[in-house]
Amino acid sequence: MAVIELTGVGKTYRSMRGSDYRALHDFDLRIEPGEFFCLLGTSGCGKTTVLNMVAGFERQSEGTILINGKPLHGPGADRGVVFQGDDSLYSWLSAQGNIEFGLRMRGVPKHARREQAQCYLNLVGLQGQGHKHPSELSGGMKQRIQIARVLANEPEILLMDEPFGALDAQTRSVMQQELLTIWGATRKTVLFITHDIDEAVTLATRIGVMHAGPASKLKATIDVNLSPTERDRTNDGYVAVYRQVHALLRDEVAIAMRRAS
Ligand SMILES: Nc1ncnc2c1ncn2[C@@H]1O[C@H](COP(=O)(O)OP(=O)(O)O)[C@@H](O)[C@H]1O
Ligand SMILES: [Mg+2]
Repeated sequence: MAVIELTGVGKTYRSMRGSDYRALHDFDLRIEPGEFFCLLGTSGCGKTTVLNMVAGFERQSEGTILINGKPLHGPGADRGVVFQGDDSLYSWLSAQGNIEFGLRMRGVPKHARREQAQCYLNLVGLQGQGHKHPSELSGGMKQRIQIARVLANEPEILLMDEPFGALDAQTRSVMQQELLTIWGATRKTVLFITHDIDEAVTLATRIGVMHAGPASKLKATIDVNLSPTERDRTNDGYVAVYRQVHALLRDEVAIAMRRAS
C-alpha cells in the first residue's frame, strides 16, 4: 500500500476579487514506503501547494488524498514538516528546548525527553550546542535544529519544502549528506521539494517533475538507481539522470517564463 496517494487532486485558490487561480488539476502521485521522493518544478508551479495539502494545512478542491490508505483529516503526528526558512523555531527556547517541545506536549517525562533530544542533537551533528538559543545559531544550525525537532517526534513521513534553499552551497552539501545518513538509519518515507536538479539527483530514489502552472500536474517520474558512491557530479550514471531531468524541466522553465511575461 502506498504511504502517500493523491488521485485526481485539484487545487483552486479562491480570490475575494473573483479571479480564482487553479494551481493544480488532476494531480496523481503515489509514494511507497521508504521512498525518498523529490518533487521538482519551476518556481510557482505548485510544489508547496502539494506539500501543504499532504501536510493537512490546505484542503484540496478536488480529488482524494490518502495517507496509508486512509483519507486525510488535517495535520497529524504521522507527518513531520520541515519548512523552507529557519525562522520556525521558538526564539524563547534553547535548541534543546525546541527539540523537546513536541515530546513535552505529548507528556514524555523530563528525563526521557532530555535523553531523546540529546540523541537527535547528536544525529544532526550538534552535540554540546543544545543550550544555545536560535539567535546564537547560524542559519545552517537552525535548520538542523528544525530537522532534529521534527525527527524527535518520530513521524513516519517526512515532508520537506526546500529545507536547504537558504543555505550556502557548502553547508547545503553537508546537510544533504546528513539527511541521507538519517534516512538510511530510519528509512522514513520522504517527500522532498526542490527546484534544484543536483539536489534531487543527490538525494532521491525517485524524482517527479511537474509541469509549469497553472493547472499543473506531474509530467514524468524517473527512478534513480544510483548507489551512494555514484551520487557524484562526475559519475556517468549521475550525469545521465541529470540530463534526463534537465530535458524534462527545460521546456517547463521556458513555458513559465513566457506565461509570466
Ligand atoms: N494562498 C494563495 N492564494 C492564491 N494563490 C496562491 C496561494 N498560494 C499559492 N498561490 C499560487 O499558486 C501557485 C503555486 O504556488 P506554490 O505552490 O507556492 O508554488 P511553488 O512552491 O512551486 O513555487 C502560484 O502561482 C501561487 O501564486
Ligand atoms: Mg514553494
